[in-house]
Amino acid sequence: MRISFGELRIGNTARKYVQAALDKSWISEGANVAKFESQFAARFGYGHAIATSSGTDADICSCASLYEFGAKRGDEIILPAACFVACANSILAAGFTPKFVDIDLETLNIDPNKIEEAVTGKTRAIMAVHTMGKPCEMDSILQIARAHNLMVIEDSCEAHGATYKGKVIGSMGDMGTFSFYPAHVVVAGEGGMVVTAREEIDHVVRSVKSHGRPFGSIYFDFQRIGFNSRMNELTAAVGLEGLECFDETFNTRKKNFYQLLKLTERLSEYLYFLKEESYEKVSPHAFPLVLKDKKYDGPRLYKYLESKGIQCKTLFGSLPTQHKAFKFMNYECGQFPVSEYVGENGLHFGMHQYMTDDDLHYISDTLKAYFK
Ligand SMILES: Cc1ncc(COP(=O)(O)O)c(C=O)c1O
Repeated sequence: MRISFGELRIGNTARKYVQAALDKSWISEGANVAKFESQFAARFGYGHAIATSSGTDADICSCASLYEFGAKRGDEIILPAACFVACANSILAAGFTPKFVDIDLETLNIDPNKIEEAVTGKTRAIMAVHTMGKPCEMDSILQIARAHNLMVIEDSCEAHGATYKGKVIGSMGDMGTFSFYPAHVVVAGEGGMVVTAREEIDHVVRSVKSHGRPFGSIYFDFQRIGFNSRMNELTAAVGLEGLECFDETFNTRKKNFYQLLKLTERLSEYLYFLKEESYEKVSPHAFPLVLKDKKYDGPRLYKYLESKGIQCKTLFGSLPTQHKAFKFMNYECGQFPVSEYVGENGLHFGMHQYMTDDDLHYISDTLKAYFK
């Protein structure tokens, strides 16, 4: 593939911290992880940051912490029908039921106008997923959450450094979650983070990520359902470098994003592109596009781009109705029309910091050739 989703290049900072762990013969959670947590919190202004072994585990631990705040097994968590599968899987893994809501065609995020009708007596939280780095409509989401006494988990795995009305992503809900898998803006190879302003949540998440032991204990006293979701020292070493490079990575990706938007401007006759509003800062996670008319054939465009060496992925599609994994929930095709349309007629490809001018021109020329 000529254009990949992202790359990991290991530099001196990561090597230094890896070496420090090796010198101590200690690669389980330790000093590197503590440093990564405190630097991550400080860099973005979060009160507490709790490292986990993946973004999925960050979501699972956030969901499982809800038991501490009145939730019962089988209660519901609202999430967008189209988003990365880890969101729905983690709700299930934590013992809850995912309650899917359709998305908005242009923002690709949960449609705030459809959330309230999904709230039932069993709803305990909304998982607001900032898909493709675009902040969700947080004003509406927070208002609905307040009205129905729901907690809010901001899945910010694709949105490092994004802001909404001056507030950093992940800081508006009760918790925010991040992933450091290579396609993301801060990369650690694997790994995740939960952030929160509330100390009590910090303590519960730390307990959940370590088998439900009491906060700070390593002994066999299990106070709540938990997992082993801890980060290791080698991952944190790479993450520390990812964090050090954050500004440069973010700005280069953003420059690439705008350059490609400009190069492909005249294709807006055929395609919806991601828009950045004046009140928000979109995190440059990737480059999504959605066909304005299905006659241009989403699956054909996907195959065509891949055949030209541009690695593509769909825009997830409707998890409940377009993926076999969720068939057991008995949703029916047609229940999430926008997610289903985007699932068939949308895709995204990488917009990472190592792309060259040539790459951007190549993508633009390739797209233009398709619509000719
Ligand atoms: C929105 C979202 N949530 C959760 C995850 C899971 O993160 P990880 O792959 O680190 O488990 C991802 C991963 O890409 C994601 O995009």
